[in-house]
This record gives sequence, C-alpha cells and structure tokens, in this order.
Amino acid sequence: MGSLSLLIRPFIYTSLIFLPCLLCVISKDCGCSTPPPPDILTFVDQRLAVVYPIIQKFKNTITADPNNKRKNWVGADICHYEGFYCDSPPDNNSATALAGIDFNGFQLAAPTIGGFIDQLPDLAIFHANTNSFSGTIPPSISKLPYFYELDISNNKFSGVFPQAVLGMNNITFLDIRYNSFKGSVPAQIFTQTLDVLFINNNNFRQTLPDNLGSTTALYLTFANNRFTGPIPRSIGNASSTLLEVLFLNNRLSGCIPYEIGLLQNATVFDAGNNLLTGPLPCSLGCLDKIEQLNFAGNLLYGQVPEVVCELGSLLNLSLSDNYFTHVGPVCWKLIKSGVLDVRQNCIHGLPDQKSFGECWWFFFYSRFSHCPYPWWFSTYVPCHAPPYRHNPPGGSKRRLLSYAALSKERLRE
Ligand SMILES: *[C@@H]1O[C@H](CO)[C@@H](O)[C@H](O)[C@H]1NC(C)=O
Ligand SMILES: *[C@@H]1O[C@H](CO)[C@@H](O)[C@H](O)[C@H]1NC(C)=O
Ligand SMILES: *[C@@H]1O[C@H](CO)[C@@H](O)[C@H](O)[C@H]1NC(C)=O
Ligand SMILES: *[C@@H]1O[C@H](CO)[C@@H](O)[C@H](O)[C@H]1NC(C)=O
Ligand SMILES: *[C@@H]1O[C@H](CO)[C@@H](O)[C@H](O)[C@H]1NC(C)=O
Repeated sequence: MGSLSLLIRPFIYTSLIFLPCLLCVISKDCGCSTPPPPDILTFVDQRLAVVYPIIQKFKNTITADPNNKRKNWVGADICHYEGFYCDSPPDNNSATALAGIDFNGFQLAAPTIGGFIDQLPDLAIFHANTNSFSGTIPPSISKLPYFYELDISNNKFSGVFPQAVLGMNNITFLDIRYNSFKGSVPAQIFTQTLDVLFINNNNFRQTLPDNLGSTTALYLTFANNRFTGPIPRSIGNASSTLLEVLFLNNRLSGCIPYEIGLLQNATVFDAGNNLLTGPLPCSLGCLDKIEQLNFAGNLLYGQVPEVVCELGSLLNLSLSDNYFTHVGPVCWKLIKSGVLDVRQNCIHGLPDQKSFGECWWFFFYSRFSHCPYPWWFSTYVPCHAPPYRHNPPGGSKRRLLSYAALSKERLRE
C-alpha cells in the first residue's frame, strides 16, 4: 500500500530530525551527520495508514476553524481525532477502518471536500451540518462501497443537484437542506433506497417529478424552494412508507390529488403557502394517523369536509387564508378547541374572515376552474371513517423530524 514517504508529513520530518540534533548539541557524542531513521507512525490497521495522508492533506486546505477542531488531528491515532470515528468494515470483522465523520457544528471552511471524503474507501457516514464547505460534491463519492449517510446541510454548496448521489446504491439518508443548489431534482432520486430526503431551503425550481410516489422515504422535505405544478398523484404509491412530508412554501398549483388520502401512516402533511386550488378531497378523512395537516395560504374553497375534522389523531388542522365557505358541526368543535384554524376564509358568521369583496372576486374568477376528480370525489371516502372519533394522542409533544429540518441546526447528535 502507500509508501512510507507518503505517510510522513513535513511537520513530522522536522520535529524528528530536529530533536535528536538538539540532544547531540548537549551530549556531543552522537553522529549528527548520519541521517536519523525516519519516524514510522504505527497505525493499528493498514487501512488507517492509507487514509492518514488524505486527512492531513484536507486539514491543510481548511481556511477557517474558529473552534480549533483540528488541534488533535495529528499522529497515528486517527480513531481519536475529533470528528472521526472508526469501526470494523463490513468486509473484515477484525479490521479497523475510518467509518464515519461527524463535523456537525464545527464551522470549518474549505473550498472543496473533493479529494477528501471520496478518497476514504471505508467511509459510511459523512455529517457536516453547519460548516462553510463549498464547491460541489465529488462524483467519485459514488464509488465508496459502504457509504449510506450524507448530511451537508447548512453549508455553502452550490450548482446543480449533486449527481453523484444518484450513483450510490445504498444511500439511505440525504440531507442537503440550507445550501444554494439550483435547477431541478432528478427523478431518479425517488427510485433510490432513501429513508430520509431533506432538500428544503435551496433554489430548486421545477415541476415535481411524476414518479415522486416511487420513493421509499419516510421523511421528505421540499419546503422553501420554487417547486411548481401539481402534487403528483403517484404520491399514493408511497402509502406504506411515507410518514412526514413538507411541501410548504413553494408554488405548487392545481387540485389536491385524492390519492393523498391513501397515506395511511402519515403523521405530517404540510402543503401550506402554495397555489393549490379546488375543494379538500374527502379522502383526507382516511389519514388515520395524521397529526399535523396544513393547507393554510392556498386557494382552496368549498366546505371543510366533516370527515377530515373527525380524524382521530389530529392535533393541528391549519386552513387559514383560503376561500372556504362552510364548516359543519364537527369542524365547529375543532375551531372551539383550537385544533382547526379557519381564519381569513369566506365563512359567513365567523370572526376574522376575508372581506365580502375579496371573496366575491375570487369566486367570480374561479367559477370555471375545474378539478379532474372522479364523479364520486366529493362524497366517497375510500376507507371506513367512523363518525366522531376525534381522540388525539394524549398531549404527547413529539419532536417531528420534518419540522425540525426547517431550522438550520443538526437533527441528530
Ligand atoms: C482483516 O483485517 C486484519 C486486521 O487488519 C488483517 O490482519 C487480516 O489480514 C484481514 N483479513 C483479510 C481476510 O483480509
Ligand atoms: C450495497 O448495494 C448492493 C446492491 O446495490 C448490495 O449488493 C450490497 O450488499 C450493498 N452493501 C451494503 C454494505 O449494504
Ligand atoms: C403508482 O401506482 C399506480 C397503481 O396504483 C401505477 O399505475 C402507477 O404506475 C404508479 N406510479 C408510479 C409513478 O409508480
Ligand atoms: C404502517 O405502519 C405500521 C406500523 O405502525 C406498519 O406495520 C405498516 O407496515 C405500515 N404500513 C402500512 C401500509 O400500514
Ligand atoms: C399549526 O400549524 C400551523 C401551520 O404549520 C402553524 O403555523 C401553527 O403554529 C400550528 N399551531 C399550533 C398550535 O401548533
């Protein structure tokens, strides 16, 4: 493997050559003219010897390190460098390899991570939330056989969606939120084995790919980009896996697909602040696990379906700033209990509604807007919806992963 000279950095050279000479100045009886034996760093495993020069090279490219996180990145004990983690690699239980890097919150700056993470052959995890890394993601990262978690959230990456990710067969966690990626998100990302896909707070601008529902992800955040067009009907195909999805703050338009009602395991569905129109499909009354349902700030109208207000797990149904005109008795109860927010709609007799004029103009102009729902759309509920089953989970304030992704900080320790 790597030759010895590669492994010895100038710093080590100088200290080792210099130190014996100091001693001989004092004792005067050693032959300083004969070159000292080169220092040999002893690594617990040859795999660590291989990554040592790569780490040292990267270390020298770091342009800011305000908390001096690099201070112990010296010597052979790579497994105890701050931010570096070792483990036995999948192909050899008795070996020790550099398996993970966790720079979360380190605030390091470097012009690129190319030539670093992609050159660490046993790397499985790279977490670097809240640093100032920039450039693009090196394509050769897709050659790393064990790699499965990439978190580069809240950095200064730019350019198009990191194509390298598409070549990673085993990636399960991709978090690129809070960067400056632009362009479109390739449809192939929804055919990968992801559990988590966080792409919120970038500059993506495109219609959502039709195959979105092929995703295996449990958590999806599209929030705070410029996605346009409708929510793909294929989303119903993700019903066995999808738990939380955020479409919040985009430019999505069109009608709400009734297939959303198939997401029987979902706890969060948030499509607030878009341009969605039409009535709420009654199929939403099938979202048995839903706790947070947000369509505030859209162009929705009609009656708030009673079956939606009957949902047993509902903690927050946010429909403010739309053009709804009616609520039934079950929904009334939820308004009183603070679960349903219908402020700034067109509901006669409720406080804090839009003006008569604004409502009138909306209905005048949207008269001919038409949702391509099947004829049974407004009555049929494709599940058994027992009436009056509102019984939310007893005040448990769970931390919802997708909403946590809307702040810049790291998500896990
Ligand atoms: C597994 O790793 C150990 C420790 O590095 C090494 O001695 C051994 O030769 C390796 N075994 C194989 C099959 O490569
Ligand atoms: C990675 O994926 C390939 C197939 O895509 C599979 O054969 C291999 O076992 C996976 N490796 C790990 C470590 O999961
Ligand atoms: C989604 O499922 C339907 C069947 O319910 C199927 O016809 C369609 O091709 C699927 N769409 C995608 C994008 O997987
Ligand atoms: C939904 O979640 C349950 C566990 O809560 C799981 O057993 C099931 O496979 C999930 N998917 C469907 C389609 O119910
Ligand atoms: C309900 O959800 C809306 C939209 O996400 C949010 O603005 C509001 O703060 C939530 N209300 C409560 C009581 O959590």
